[in-house]
Amino acid sequence: MFVTATAMLPAVGSLCISRTPRGGPRFTMAVRSNVNVSVAPILTKLQKECAAPLPVLRNVADAMTADMRAGLVVDGGGELKMILSYVDALPTGNERGLFYALDLGGTNFRVLRVQLGGQEERVQATEFEQVSIPQELMRGTSEELFDFIATGLAKFSEKEAGKFHLPRGRQREIGFTFSFPVKQTSIDSGILIKWTKGFSVSGTPGKDVVACLNEAMERQGLDMRVSALVNDTVGTLAGARYWDEDVMVAVILGTGTNACYVEQMDAIPKLQGNKSPSGRTIINTEWGAFSKGLPLTEFDRDMDAASINPGEQIYEKTISGMYLGEIVRRVLLKMAEEGALFGNSVPEKLSMPFVLRTPHICAMQQDYSEDLQAVGSTLYDVAGVESSLKARKVVIEVCDTIVKRGGRLAGAGIVSILQKIDEDSNGAIFGKRTVVAMDGGLYENYTQYRRYVHEAVTELLGTEISKNVVIEHTKDGSGIGAALLASANSKFDHDY
Ligand code: BGC
Repeated sequence: MFVTATAMLPAVGSLCISRTPRGGPRFTMAVRSNVNVSVAPILTKLQKECAAPLPVLRNVADAMTADMRAGLVVDGGGELKMILSYVDALPTGNERGLFYALDLGGTNFRVLRVQLGGQEERVQATEFEQVSIPQELMRGTSEELFDFIATGLAKFSEKEAGKFHLPRGRQREIGFTFSFPVKQTSIDSGILIKWTKGFSVSGTPGKDVVACLNEAMERQGLDMRVSALVNDTVGTLAGARYWDEDVMVAVILGTGTNACYVEQMDAIPKLQGNKSPSGRTIINTEWGAFSKGLPLTEFDRDMDAASINPGEQIYEKTISGMYLGEIVRRVLLKMAEEGALFGNSVPEKLSMPFVLRTPHICAMQQDYSEDLQAVGSTLYDVAGVESSLKARKVVIEVCDTIVKRGGRLAGAGIVSILQKIDEDSNGAIFGKRTVVAMDGGLYENYTQYRRYVHEAVTELLGTEISKNVVIEHTKDGSGIGAALLASANSKFDHDY
């Protein structure tokens, strides 16, 4: 059955929800006129429209598999970009030396160094630092963002000491995990196609992101070289494969979502016969862009229309951590306005986009108390809402409806990739142990979401086959993975 290596934590990310003593309401409320209405019709309609029973899941999985094939034939052939990663050789365990990794993909960026000791000693030492990215930089200029990153990297590299050792005359090399859609042009270069996950930095789309980083490092006087540019899914797959040869797929379910997998080169028509010695490569699917057959509601459509990338990343907007809380907020607002969910008034704060975040709904769903006290405090703290027990129960139902749909659709995505590999290998995948390496705070911390993912995979594959499918949580594997790929693509002689 499924193996998950983490303990269950109560909330996504590090967000801490305090329980304030009840005082007078701190927020303004808009007063409603008609209180004798009910939320029941809104809830019933929501549950109906969000339902993802087996036939819907099967449709989604099959449509995604077909879309993957279309994207492998020609660039732009499907919604999934099926990007060539140029990672044709997977980590072997022989990697040695000091390597850095830089990870940019969400609200934080991380820098990491790792001393690799070959087959016997593997990972001898690691150190990392994490810095949160100021909101204004997520919407600023390319130079500002990359200068910020290069400054962080420079500070971190100055502290190198102890167990970390760089042979004399050798330049420090970095595996750069850049978790946005990039058209790779080689293992160490790639053009940003578009920003996702709320980033909207001017001047980067259409540019080589490694060149952007190199220029910023030069401005900092930092002598380091990017030897591998990788998506976070690709880093996760490489990191997990280092320990386990059965890893075939890597999935991120966090702020954003994506998946990559090991593909046979002769199954990629757009390669036009180009082959590497291994005959295999990793494909970054960019599945967040998928949209076919998804059960969507007015709340999804409205959220999409108001987003900075309308019409794009629809699957991501339905299943990933950046958006689940916001969808719930939109439902609750309608229930407050039209169904008097919170009595005679509509809490003004509830109208603020993204005021309710996925860590909040996660925390509310972990409240197993009889009076749903934590739900009450969260609603009060986040939206200035005084709630009855009845209202709290409705809130939980709404969270569960949105999270269940997200988790089940994520499960369908996983199956779409497994069935693609299986079809091409004449049943070789489902007949043996196959590992899906998983990372991301949503999967890691949201117990119910994780359960829905697993349930959907089992329903789609059947109990027997799903016994062979191991979903393994590999926390922060992408950092080590990127460093391993930096080692594999080092311009210096290998020590082994
Ligand atoms: C990006 C992917 C990334 C995923 C998970 C998506 O928004 O397009 O490149 O892998 O988020 O971080």
